[in-house]
Amino acid sequence: MSAVIEISGLRKTFHTLRQGRRVAVDGFDLLVEAGQVHGFLGPNGSGKTTTLRALLGLVRADGGRMSVLGAESPDRLPEVAGRVGAIVESPQFFGNFTARRTLRLLALAGGVPTSRIDEVLDQVGLRDRSEERVKGYSLGMKQRLAVASALLKQPELLILDEPANGLDPAGIREMRDLVRSLAAAGVTVLLSSHILAEIQLICDHVTIISRGQRVAHGRVDDVLAGFDQHEWQVRVAEPERAVELLGRAGLSVTAHPGHLVVAGVDEPELISRTLGEQGLWVRELIPLRPDLESVFLELTGTTPHLPRQVDGSGTPPAGADDVVIDLDARENREVDA
Ligand SMILES: Nc1ncnc2c1ncn2[C@@H]1O[C@H](COP(=O)(O)OP(=O)(O)OP(=O)(O)O)[C@@H](O)[C@H]1O
Ligand SMILES: [Mg+2]
Repeated sequence: MSAVIEISGLRKTFHTLRQGRRVAVDGFDLLVEAGQVHGFLGPNGSGKTTTLRALLGLVRADGGRMSVLGAESPDRLPEVAGRVGAIVESPQFFGNFTARRTLRLLALAGGVPTSRIDEVLDQVGLRDRSEERVKGYSLGMKQRLAVASALLKQPELLILDEPANGLDPAGIREMRDLVRSLAAAGVTVLLSSHILAEIQLICDHVTIISRGQRVAHGRVDDVLAGFDQHEWQVRVAEPERAVELLGRAGLSVTAHPGHLVVAGVDEPELISRTLGEQGLWVRELIPLRPDLESVFLELTGTTPHLPRQVDGSGTPPAGADDVVIDLDARENREVDA
C-alpha cells in the first residue's frame, strides 16, 4: 500500500489579538493509504479543518512534515494539485451564476474538458436543477455543487471537510453512495465528519483527533474491537436471582432497569447454561458491541451530562487523560507481551 497522505508532527498555533495564543493542532499524525475511505473524526474545534487547510497549503504550519501523493506539502503541491479534489469549509459561489455556468468556468480554468460537466452534475444529482441560479439553492444543493466542482478533474484523491453538512437524510445517503462508488472506482477519499454513524457506514479506516492530537487510528473494525468489552444484555424473569447465580459462577454482572449486563464473556452459552441449569430461562441475550459513537465519546473525553466546551478546553472530565489511547501503542504492547 502506498501512502497518499502522510502527516507527521503537524503543529499550528493561531495568534489573535483578543484571544492570544491558541494551539489548534499539536503534533498530529495522519496516514492515508491508496484506496482507503478514511474518516477523520473529532469534536468541534479539535483541529480537523486546520489540519486539512495546512495539508493543502491554505494555512502555514508551524512544524511537522506533510506529503500528498508523494509530494512534500506545501512546496511541491502544485505538482500534484491536478490529481487532488478538495472541499475545505463551505466554498463560495457566484449567486447569479447557474450551477452549469459555475462548473463551466471551473472546467475552463482547470483545463478540464467541458464534457465532464454533465457527468459530475449527474453524479451529484443536480442535473435537473443545473440551469437555476446558485443563490436560489438550498445549503445541501450548494454542498452538492461543491462536490461536483471537486470531481471535475477526476481526482485520484478526494478530500471532503464535512461533506454531509446541510444535507437531509436522503442527501446523506446519496453522498454515502457517491463516496462508495468513487471508492469502488479506485479514488482514495479522506472525509472529516462528526456524524459518527456515517463514518462507520462509509469508511474502512478512521483517525480520531482530540485537542489537536491523534487519539486513535486504524481500521474501523480494529478501533471498535479495541473497545469491545464482550458485554451481553440479558433479560430474565428474576433478575436478582440471576445476578446471584452469575456472580457465583464468577461472571461480572451489573443490574440495569429491566435488564442485566454481563461483561467479559466470549461465548453466550456460558450465560444461558449458568441460568438454565438453575431453571432460570433467558428471555433475551444480545451482544453489546461498541459503536464508533461510544468510542469517540470515550476518547475525546466527552461525557453527556457535562456542559462541554467546543474543543474540550474547558474543564476536562476527571480521568480524561487516562482514556487517550493510541491503538498502535496498544497493539505494540500486545505484541510485546
Ligand atoms: N483563523 C483562525 N484564527 C484563530 N483561531 C483559529 C482559526 N482557525 C481555527 N482556529 C482555532 O483552532 C481550533 C481548531 O479549529 P478547526 O476549525 O480546525 O476545528 P474543527 O475540528 O474543524 O472543528 P469543526 O468540527 O467545528 O469544524 C479552534 O479552537 C479554532 O477556534
Ligand atoms: Mg471544521
